[in-house]
Amino acid sequence: MTHRILLPGLTRRGLLTGAAGAATLAVAPQLRSPAVAQKAPLKVGLMLPYTGTYAKLGQFIDNGFRLYVEQKGGKLGGREITFVQVDDESKPEAATDNMNRLVGREKVDVVVGTVHSGVAMAMVKVARDNNTLLIIPNAGANDATGPQCAANIFRTSFSNWQPSYPMGKVVFDAGLKNVATITWRYAAGAESTGAFKENFTKQGGKIVEEMTLPFPEVEFQALLTRIATLKPDAVFSFFAGGGAVKFVKDYAAAGLNKTIPLYGSGFLTDGVLEAQGEAANGMKTTLHYADNLDNPANKAFLAAFKAKTKMDGDIYAVQGFDSAALLDVGLNAVGGDDKARDKMIDAMAKAKIDSPRGPLSFNKAHNPIQHIYLREVRNGRNEFVSIAHESLDDPARGCRMA
Ligand code: BEZ
Repeated sequence: MTHRILLPGLTRRGLLTGAAGAATLAVAPQLRSPAVAQKAPLKVGLMLPYTGTYAKLGQFIDNGFRLYVEQKGGKLGGREITFVQVDDESKPEAATDNMNRLVGREKVDVVVGTVHSGVAMAMVKVARDNNTLLIIPNAGANDATGPQCAANIFRTSFSNWQPSYPMGKVVFDAGLKNVATITWRYAAGAESTGAFKENFTKQGGKIVEEMTLPFPEVEFQALLTRIATLKPDAVFSFFAGGGAVKFVKDYAAAGLNKTIPLYGSGFLTDGVLEAQGEAANGMKTTLHYADNLDNPANKAFLAAFKAKTKMDGDIYAVQGFDSAALLDVGLNAVGGDDKARDKMIDAMAKAKIDSPRGPLSFNKAHNPIQHIYLREVRNGRNEFVSIAHESLDDPARGCRMA
């Protein structure tokens, strides 16, 4: 039996109700008994977007994390797991307060979050100040595993540099020499298009224009008109979630996809293909996952995710699943005793995870080393084309691990 307690101090918009149960705390009965205090469940704070343009991404990370825990009988490293959920709404201005409540008031043992790079950087600051164990299951902010890297901070997803850098060569090798970029004006957009530009110009390509609009705006019409006027050989973009759905549909509705191919990091088409429909057909993107990766871990994961949620898994679900797998490695190394922090962190840093995405290990900054795949949208799926960059390691610029 579990009890649900409202997390105090959150605004009405910060609270979720119903099945998602965000901002509620599930307390197992034994937690209230001092006799079994030593074996108290490990409290995991899930700080994710459950509303807004990234809502589906947050929900899939949440589902992926819980799937792994369920497969382990509700325990990681032999320790029962309970959750506190907070909807961060992808709002950087509320992030420090949300994180402080989880760490200070709720006293969670570990925080898993989030999706948005700006929110994640506020979380990183609190985690560094309080020495809280933080696992980032999506947000790619380069600084989190760059200048702000720390022993207690891990990322199971990517740096924003990683999925976009290989696309610079893919596009140049396709004979496309003049490219315009378009994205939201925040860290993930700037760093993704920046990584593409770094490799594309190194190959000899030219960026003809860099277009931006504020996050999470989706009024693309003026910029699409500008693309039609510029007539670049191709467009490279970063959008994700609801924004990616609208951008790909608007691009096709304007007829641009017939003459100016649209490329992007895989967030442009991952988890959103059903909503994009025909508009996404034939699009090529680069990411650390493809739906039809032919490995046993991926097949088992997709089947289990479908059985649990009745939905198809995607990269966000994989990242949630792998975040729990990484925590499991750490807790197993210390027999569930998260207070043996150095040993736990050491085991996590050395983890080699058989992920649905393929082999997953970590660099000195605790950022994934992983394959980046070239994918193409066929039959409503992001299908594997080739490995665009094998075992790509982020340069971790500015990371000085203590
Ligand atoms: C980010 O803000 O880091 C991000 C959000 C969605 C997809 C990928 C990256």
